[in-house]
Amino acid sequence: MHAAVVHSFDELPRYDVREAPVARTPDEVVVDVLAAGLHPRVRSGADGTHYTSDGTLPMVPGVDGVGRTPEGDLVYFVASDDAPGTMAEQALVDRRRAITLPVDADPVTVAAAMNPGMSSWVALRRRVDLQPGGSVLVLGATGNAGQLAVQIARHLGASRVIGAGRDAQRLDLVASLGADEVVSLDGDGVADRLGRVAGDVDVVVDYLWGQPTEQAMKAVLMARTDRSRPLAWVQIGSMAGSEIALPSFLLRAANLSILGSGQGSVTTAGIVAELPALAALVASDELTIDALPVPLAEVERAWTTPTRPGQRLVLVP
Ligand SMILES: NC(=O)c1ccc[n+]([C@@H]2O[C@H](COP(=O)([O-])OP(=O)(O)OC[C@H]3O[C@@H](n4cnc5c(N)ncnc54)[C@H](OP(=O)(O)O)[C@@H]3O)[C@@H](O)[C@H]2O)c1
Repeated sequence: MHAAVVHSFDELPRYDVREAPVARTPDEVVVDVLAAGLHPRVRSGADGTHYTSDGTLPMVPGVDGVGRTPEGDLVYFVASDDAPGTMAEQALVDRRRAITLPVDADPVTVAAAMNPGMSSWVALRRRVDLQPGGSVLVLGATGNAGQLAVQIARHLGASRVIGAGRDAQRLDLVASLGADEVVSLDGDGVADRLGRVAGDVDVVVDYLWGQPTEQAMKAVLMARTDRSRPLAWVQIGSMAGSEIALPSFLLRAANLSILGSGQGSVTTAGIVAELPALAALVASDELTIDALPVPLAEVERAWTTPTRPGQRLVLVP
């Protein structure tokens, strides 16, 4: 079969030939892949920098996808950690990590949105107790996951959603997706702006970390009307840095909980249990999803094609 293959972490994946996978257990099935998203997690796996990377080459990138089972079912699946990647004509699927999609679901849309959508969906459903009427700040709202987080927070009952990002034009887009307020993280006065608009939020969904988080955490905590009001700060991505400096007084001066959401902090079973509801939402018309399909044979072009903000490349075998 054909697949995208990484031969060296310094080079782009190439369209190449690999042996088709074979089911190893009764739980596994080989599916025909219809679409696989090119997520940041896929890029970091393909260049060897993801924290789960064990350096084994050659490797097929791809962590999830939409496929057709031998029985003809349309499924969304998350690849097992020890299975080849999903950017191939065929992929090995553990049925316990797959869900059946509505027959009319668009494979490209589902492949584009499930991974970025899951980041906030799982965080808000499994890691924090978002009460109906609660408020959410999305830090890094201009990316794919951030734009979906704004929409998903609203869908899950937040009454106030604030999007923060560094690009003014892209923030306009976030506002058009339903954010009540947007805050620019660019230029002077960021702390004042954030404190004014987001001082009393209940949950922060953080895709940035690094310097913007250091600044935002202090700004939000210092601006709280009631510092004993719980604030759950959920670490999800690290687009702006992998570390922060955290002054100890912030933990004493306000009712702050810092936690993360991702593979490990939520069990695989917990993540899979959330997939059907998210897939139903993705397959409905409620979310704005911008997917750009590219043939698998053009994988090198896909890797280097610039995308619009919020647009997700999807490889189509
Ligand atoms: N934990 C999980 O479950 C999970 C699941 C999915 C994704 N993630 C993570 O979530 C993060 C975002 O994923 P994505 O799919 O949304 O990626 P994406 O579509 O590439 O978007 C990344 C966004 O980060 C912004 N950004 C980068 N550096 C920044 C900085 N220094 N200051 C402010 N904004 C900055 C970019 O802003 P500009 O538009 O200004 O460039 C862009 O909007 C990634 O780290 C990904 O690995 C985590």
